[in-house]
Amino acid sequence: MSIAFCAENQVFSLTTAHHLYQMKLAEGGFLLHLYYGLKTDTDMSYRIHCTDRGFSGNPYEQRLNRGFSTDTLPQEYPCAGVGDYRAPALRVLSENGSRSVDLRYVCHAISQGRMSIPGLPFARTDGDTETLTVTLRDEVIGLEADLLYHVFPQKDMITRSVRLRNTGSGLLTLEKAASASLDFLCGSYDVLHFHGRHCMERLPERMHLQHGIFSCGSVRGMSSHQHNPFIVLCDPHATEQNGDCYGFMLMYSGNHLEEIEVSQTGSTRVVTGIHPDGFSWLLRPGEAFDTPEVMLSYSPDGLNGLSRQFHRMIRENVLAPQHRTAGRPILINSWEAAYFDFNAEKILQFARSAKELGVEMLVLDDGWFGKRDDDNSGLGDWYVNEKKLGCSMKELSDCIHAIGLQFGLWFEPEMISEDSDLYRAHPDWALCDPDRSPTMARNQLVLDMSRQDVVDYLYASMCHVLDNAVIEYVKWDFNRSIANCYSHGLPAAQQGETAHRFMLGTYRLLSRLLERYPSLLIEGCSGGGGRFDAGMLFYCPQIWCSDDSDAVERLEIQRGTSYGYPVSTMGAHVSAAPNHQTGRVTPLRTRGVVAQSGTFGYELNPGLLSETDKEEIRKQISDYHRYADLIACGDYYRLTELEDSPDLSAWMFVSGDRKEALVSIVITHVRANGPYPFVRLCGLAPKKVYRLEGTEKTCTGAALMHGGLPFVSPMGDYPAVQFHLTAEN
Ligand code: GLA
Repeated sequence: MSIAFCAENQVFSLTTAHHLYQMKLAEGGFLLHLYYGLKTDTDMSYRIHCTDRGFSGNPYEQRLNRGFSTDTLPQEYPCAGVGDYRAPALRVLSENGSRSVDLRYVCHAISQGRMSIPGLPFARTDGDTETLTVTLRDEVIGLEADLLYHVFPQKDMITRSVRLRNTGSGLLTLEKAASASLDFLCGSYDVLHFHGRHCMERLPERMHLQHGIFSCGSVRGMSSHQHNPFIVLCDPHATEQNGDCYGFMLMYSGNHLEEIEVSQTGSTRVVTGIHPDGFSWLLRPGEAFDTPEVMLSYSPDGLNGLSRQFHRMIRENVLAPQHRTAGRPILINSWEAAYFDFNAEKILQFARSAKELGVEMLVLDDGWFGKRDDDNSGLGDWYVNEKKLGCSMKELSDCIHAIGLQFGLWFEPEMISEDSDLYRAHPDWALCDPDRSPTMARNQLVLDMSRQDVVDYLYASMCHVLDNAVIEYVKWDFNRSIANCYSHGLPAAQQGETAHRFMLGTYRLLSRLLERYPSLLIEGCSGGGGRFDAGMLFYCPQIWCSDDSDAVERLEIQRGTSYGYPVSTMGAHVSAAPNHQTGRVTPLRTRGVVAQSGTFGYELNPGLLSETDKEEIRKQISDYHRYADLIACGDYYRLTELEDSPDLSAWMFVSGDRKEALVSIVITHVRANGPYPFVRLCGLAPKKVYRLEGTEKTCTGAALMHGGLPFVSPMGDYPAVQFHLTAEN
């Protein structure tokens, strides 16, 4: 039993293998947060003490008990308008213009397993998953909130979401409906968040929290390159290997907001969910609204410890079961090899050369459909341009399969070009304000995915392509931020629903396609990693990590991504040198080592490779097969601290039984007569003796973890070294 309610003390305890999350029902039906951290086996109610604080008001019935204030008590789901002046989780506009909500306990239920969330991604159950539903109610407006807590004991993970129901008789408008709020009564914290831009996503930035609100998020209609929906709250002394860390990851791909407020009392509140800017949702009597789910985890073992918990959770509970282990195809993608300039013959040449190297799948990127010789036209017209290809898609895919490769195709379903048959037939299918010229980006518009007719059109046209050729993989792109988020299918009063309905439409389309093609592998993409989130990962087990394929830049991008997401989700390819985004020249070996820590593939013209390069690539591919399980399923450790080691980047994988490890090091700045390079390894079994492959050296795990692994830095620009360790005992 991982969920218990102690009726005597009115305390809910959610217990995972190592952690405890506790809440208390206080007088008047307020649900208070008591504690989240290492197991204590104790009722933590003693942590709450009520002090009379000026200007922090009291619920009416507690007016003589001035210490009881919603403004200072730690609340599980704080509401706006009733005296808690910190960031609220919920704001509701009632028909009479009031914006006050007062949710009090009604009942609770504990059950085995969990229910899915209608239309939204969610964490899939383990055998021992349990659910706590606490129902709160505002008697005046008839709003009920089911606070859902799903406990994954072996994962040390708790997920939360909220179902809001209008059980009254008036119209209610949700103006803010966060997925979770978590109050930390005391303590001083740093926040680690992941910012970025196109071609440089998920850069970790750490800062100390002070009084006031720190917030980050996205109002771009997508989770965005700029701010990932994953944040970490950690002890200011936490390092990669030690210290308290709390992670909050929203399983959502649209607008999101993460807020952290340090209050007057020194408490810290984290609120995360759909971004309230531009959001509103009309809840008629009898209707319900579900928030996206958020995954919470705590680790006392530093940032690496927290990352490992999220990696395992994503691999085993977010990805579809058939994608949990290794075995994704090594692919070659046509984009950087040909851009829009190809026909079937050229693609077949790529396929033949790639097959000789050991590649397993060819992906035909943008440009095969409608009128699409550059990025100004054709989006929405998902029919094959046979004139350009010189054959049908079936003929092309048959030839590729005959060569011995699988075949994949690029789509950008949610977009529409003004210059397309689709736009000419249905201009109202694009998101666009009435009477206003739309904001353009990449000279394209965004389809109104909130409309069922749009989703139906996309389903039918994509099925038509997928049914008429053998296609094992789809790259699902999304190449602009949304602006003019106005739907011609919704009345004025419901325009605030468009952005969320858009995401529901996209998820619906993905679900329908996967239902029809259960073995289809969909790789997410959004100008690289602009929609790299656990929501997309529920449908797409891998996401193209960045449009920047430069190996040195990728060190930062993939490292930043690894704080929340496992390497088995990161699309990473070896591309040409000089690199197309930076002009940098890096050794092919280094490009291989970096791309290997992802879903491995190539993004170059294989016909232009020298014999030496081809040999190196054959070796890369055989190494990848050799290490695939270790990389996809092993424990991942960042070996360098955020601020340290400007001259190298190092990381490693350790197998579950700790008998095998792979250490990768890229030297980003080779120095003449430089300091002696070494890295301290992690995660090994202290008493095991490891052999470093290719050398006669053996060392205990303890020695390698405490004394470090010295190595000789090769000369030249950006060299890489790798060590494969196998235990001898
Ligand atoms: C995006 C993707 C690229 C490529 C292009 C095609 O930028 O990230 O990999 O598919 O679109 O237009």
